[in-house]
Amino acid sequence: MAFYKFPENFKWGSATSAHQIEGNNHNDWTEWETSKLRVESLKIKGLDPNNFISGRACDSYNRYEEDFDIAKKLNQNIHRFSIEWSRIEPKEGRFDEKEMQHYVNVVRALRDRGIEPMITLWHFTNPTWFARKGGFINIDSPTYFTRYVKYVVEHLKDQNVRLWITFNEATDVYSSHSYFIRKWLPQHRNILEWRRVNKNIVKSHIAVYKEIQNIYSPAESFNEVRPRISKEVEPRDPSQASHNVEVGMAIRNTWSVGGNNFYEKIIGELYNYYRNMYFWTEAFPYYDFMGLNYYEIDRRVPGSYKTLPKQDWWMKDMSWELYPKGIYYVLKQLTKFKKPIFITENGYSGPDDERQRYVKEHLKWVWQAIQDGVDVWGYTYWSLLDNFEWDHGYTPKFGLVEVNYKTFERHIRPSAWEYAKICKDNQLEY
Ligand code: BGC
Repeated sequence: MAFYKFPENFKWGSATSAHQIEGNNHNDWTEWETSKLRVESLKIKGLDPNNFISGRACDSYNRYEEDFDIAKKLNQNIHRFSIEWSRIEPKEGRFDEKEMQHYVNVVRALRDRGIEPMITLWHFTNPTWFARKGGFINIDSPTYFTRYVKYVVEHLKDQNVRLWITFNEATDVYSSHSYFIRKWLPQHRNILEWRRVNKNIVKSHIAVYKEIQNIYSPAESFNEVRPRISKEVEPRDPSQASHNVEVGMAIRNTWSVGGNNFYEKIIGELYNYYRNMYFWTEAFPYYDFMGLNYYEIDRRVPGSYKTLPKQDWWMKDMSWELYPKGIYYVLKQLTKFKKPIFITENGYSGPDDERQRYVKEHLKWVWQAIQDGVDVWGYTYWSLLDNFEWDHGYTPKFGLVEVNYKTFERHIRPSAWEYAKICKDNQLEY
């Protein structure tokens, strides 16, 4: 047995997202889930459409305190969750104070339990009015998104929220699933739209980054140490940001292998750029930390099987090929941007012993990366609860906690206790 000690103040927790756990949302996903086209296409595949409708999800909108009691019991000291834009701004320009208060209460509930909140502002879902305007294809999307974020951050600033994530996997997963491979709504295949969505998301992120930094440290106080500059024209130099607040983004990097000959190498480079590096390159230097979501290896580049032999470990529920050392390579790859990294997602759907093994194998490589000089702040396991897994419906079970979708009873899995021990000791024994 070996002992892997993590740095002092390393953060340990778990992650969720609004649409996957809250229940009774009304956004572009809920409209799609129940649309005739979607329901019919599932029936044709012999699938039960009810399994693919989020409905009441985990009812966490009402049960969040119970969920946080569990997170605390499991020795977690950070929790990543998302705010649902469609609740805050259900109609264009009309903000719902009651819903905003709900999230203030959520943050307080975490603080009461000594758990630090890490808030994602967008996790795949859009208000229906925004989707009808074309979503992130719309040239004004950065303005709409910034207006929403400003409202939220102004209301949460007094709760001393220190960690914000602007978007989850928007330029890597979302844009390609929705505008290129037709997997998610609006199921388009249009390379120009894909490009435009990516560009507007980067623009939105940069705008929101500046907005949040400004709310926390208004230009006036900043100007005490710097000559007055118009904040519209000249961005604040992020290296001089106050660090009252840290703003990042979460990208799902995969360890993509491949490239034996010239042609394969070019494809490999392009794929790696758009998948892993695009956002961090385009938005640089406007982020204080980098959120890394890592799950599996990627074989989309031709020649990949020659470069790395087939692994014999799969996450069957998702048909993902697993390669824990990939997290080490991906972490190393990101050091190029010289920003701290937070592992915002990593998790397993399947039997408990496999979940334990998955977490430990990955943490071992995270530890190794830290030894080799990578600045990693913390780790939030995906996910605290079993939840609505997008186009896979309710079949996958990523939770540390099992949820009975009829009674909404929560049951802590044995693997959660294994993870709880790591969180408590700040150390992996393996
Ligand atoms: C997403 C989560 C999702 C998880 C497992 C991530 O890409 O951010 O929403 O549940 O993967 O598929």
